Amino acid sequence: MAQSQFFLISLLIIFLVASHPINAVEYSVTNFAHTTPGGMIFNEKLGAEYTKQTMAVATEFIWNIFKQHTEKERKNVPTVRFFVEDKNDSYIAYKINDEIHFEDNYIESISGGDIKRRFNGVLYHEMAHIWQWEQGCDCETAANLTRGIADFVRLKADYVPETGWAKPGDGEHWNEGYSVTARFLDYCNGVREGFVGELNKKMKNGYSDDFFVELLGMTPDQLWTNYKAEYEGNSSNIIN
Ligand SMILES: *[C@@H]1O[C@H](CO)[C@@H](O)[C@H](O)[C@H]1NC(C)=O
Ligand SMILES: *[C@@H]1O[C@H](CO)[C@@H](O)[C@H](O)[C@H]1NC(C)=O
Ligand SMILES: *[C@@H]1O[C@H](CO)[C@@H](O)[C@H](O)[C@H]1NC(C)=O
Repeated sequence: MAQSQFFLISLLIIFLVASHPINAVEYSVTNFAHTTPGGMIFNEKLGAEYTKQTMAVATEFIWNIFKQHTEKERKNVPTVRFFVEDKNDSYIAYKINDEIHFEDNYIESISGGDIKRRFNGVLYHEMAHIWQWEQGCDCETAANLTRGIADFVRLKADYVPETGWAKPGDGEHWNEGYSVTARFLDYCNGVREGFVGELNKKMKNGYSDDFFVELLGMTPDQLWTNYKAEYEGNSSNIIN
């Protein structure tokens, strides 16, 4: 009796979990480039199911980095749409509204190596743009930082490519964007675990360099000086 009750309760739990997925976001994938080399490689080596799964896993990963554990802390995005396109542009991929657009030429260009690894790296970056708070302003500082946060997500997911990425300590300024800023943010995140998630939370309604001061007690320029000093082995530069 006790055993059959246990069995029924287990069934009920399985039913509830299955009918109420924790991640209720929908993903759709459309390949508009069926007949181009890159579009065909997408169908053959990646495909819609794989892409949707990767987007779902990336979403959980990003919410975790952003410390967004409940729905009301997150951006409200019911559906993320993904497209492969043949636009003959030189871009790799971009995010607009709740859409991610991949250029077929890029998919073709990565097909010689570990295609899933390279693809996932760019996809995680674009998925970070889907979920992070972005500024409605044209401010370049916030835009560069936003790209740095997206590459930080890629770094944390361990999808840094072999070439074309800054090494730790590289760069001229903390806010050059992309991988230079990502490496710097990784340093800041080491100073205070979870820093990038806290920074993203603060960016919900705008951006200010003061966010660094509030979280880490230093301006981004001071932090950059310390970061560079660490990699140049010059401890006399460190600001306490
Ligand atoms: C892109 O360029 C190729 C080769 O020049 C051409 O065949 C194709 O139609 C072009 N696609 C678009 C969408 O312009
Ligand atoms: C943003 O990034 C671009 C490209 O790396 C750079 O030229 C520009 O100076 C950066 N802007 C700021 C405000 O740091
Ligand atoms: C270390 O930093 C100090 C102060 O900026 C500078 O004078 C010195 O030349 C630097 N040393 C090295 C080895 O870079």
